[in-house]
Amino acid sequence: MAIEQEKFEQLIKEFTLDTDQLKTVADSFRKEMVSGLAREEGASMAMLNSYIGMPKGDEIGDFLALDFGGTNLRVLNIHLTGDCKAEVIKKVARPLVTEEYNLINKDAKADDTFDFIADMVAEAVEGVEDKKFYLGHTFSFPSIQENIYNARLINWTKEFAIPGVEGEVVNDLLKAALERKGVKNVEPNSVINDTVAVLLAAAYQYPDTRIGVIYATGYNACYFESNHKDGAAPSIVNMECGNFDKLALSSCDEELNAKSERPANQHLEKMISGRYMGELLTIAAARLSGKEIADDFTAIDISDMLADDENSTKTLAIMKAKMGFECPECAQKLRELAKAISVRSARLAAAAMVGPIWHIAGDNPIEAQHIAVDGSVFQFMPGVQDTIKAALAELLGAEDAAKISPVLVTGGSGTGAAIAACVASK
Ligand code: BGC
Repeated sequence: MAIEQEKFEQLIKEFTLDTDQLKTVADSFRKEMVSGLAREEGASMAMLNSYIGMPKGDEIGDFLALDFGGTNLRVLNIHLTGDCKAEVIKKVARPLVTEEYNLINKDAKADDTFDFIADMVAEAVEGVEDKKFYLGHTFSFPSIQENIYNARLINWTKEFAIPGVEGEVVNDLLKAALERKGVKNVEPNSVINDTVAVLLAAAYQYPDTRIGVIYATGYNACYFESNHKDGAAPSIVNMECGNFDKLALSSCDEELNAKSERPANQHLEKMISGRYMGELLTIAAARLSGKEIADDFTAIDISDMLADDENSTKTLAIMKAKMGFECPECAQKLRELAKAISVRSARLAAAAMVGPIWHIAGDNPIEAQHIAVDGSVFQFMPGVQDTIKAALAELLGAEDAAKISPVLVTGGSGTGAAIAACVASK
């Protein structure tokens, strides 16, 4: 199959961001943070107060952690040791989507989904029904909070669409389900976003951390705000920066938006996160080949292509499976497109780190710090971590960039939720 070189170059160009463009993104990101904090009309980042500060490290006891944020749901029984350590005593994990059922789409029923969760909670405390547990809930969707318990879902993201949950206090729905299931010894007492959970957990390992990032199926970040202009106590702010929209969208981004559950939302997330990168490649490959691709590429396909050998062995197999044909020249082009999409994603992720780095420093010099990152894209996609580092140097200069260490912090959703449950129980 012949590839039109011009079309290919145009697509690569669409996915390329030069240093100036990246600086503009970082700069507008910082401004949007301030605009969101001031609740200005049209601000694209919600900048939600989490009503929790950085942990002290002395949190102690057994707590339940619920991790609800992707297609895999987890309930953990976690022991906090009181000296910055967390041990998982029991873990129950189950998918919310299988070939037999789908508990997250438009046809799902909120009660069924929360009953499913309540059953998993019951399983996590099986055998210890005589002991009371506080439950921390890592709920990874934009939620407006009035306090550490009361988180109301603003809108679903990541293509979740369960009716009847938007506008509701999610922990009330969970409590009702626990009652229906007769689980009497578990009390949900807190809700945090997964970015907040990662930051809380990271503070146990790296006390200089002030920014937490999720770079996975979804994308978002939070930071510790020590100076709320409205007089609120210092606390972690969930930026909901996946919705950042001061971006030049490519025609492939526009096409992806149009097909998504919420076309006008989550523009940055759709350019960065694992949920959408594969779909962007599908759109680009369909344009290049002139063929319809029924089965979308995934972020895992992109990782496989990036790690492929010089004969593109894996890429050819993926092409055959998803596009119905294989040709070495096309496979090479497909790999270059995959690389452009993944590099753009990582460069944007770096720009979105620089926004809060600048905001936190204000007029002072940037301090040495870790940035806690969890998520499969950061952990597994070849080249992503190096690209972030290079982009940080481009944006901050070598000297300041050397002070910034993005680190992988796994298991934060559980540890962070346990810390939140402990703090809320006091
Ligand atoms: C949600 C965020 C979440 C992120 C990562 C986004 O779609 O809006 O709340 O932190 O995904 O899970």
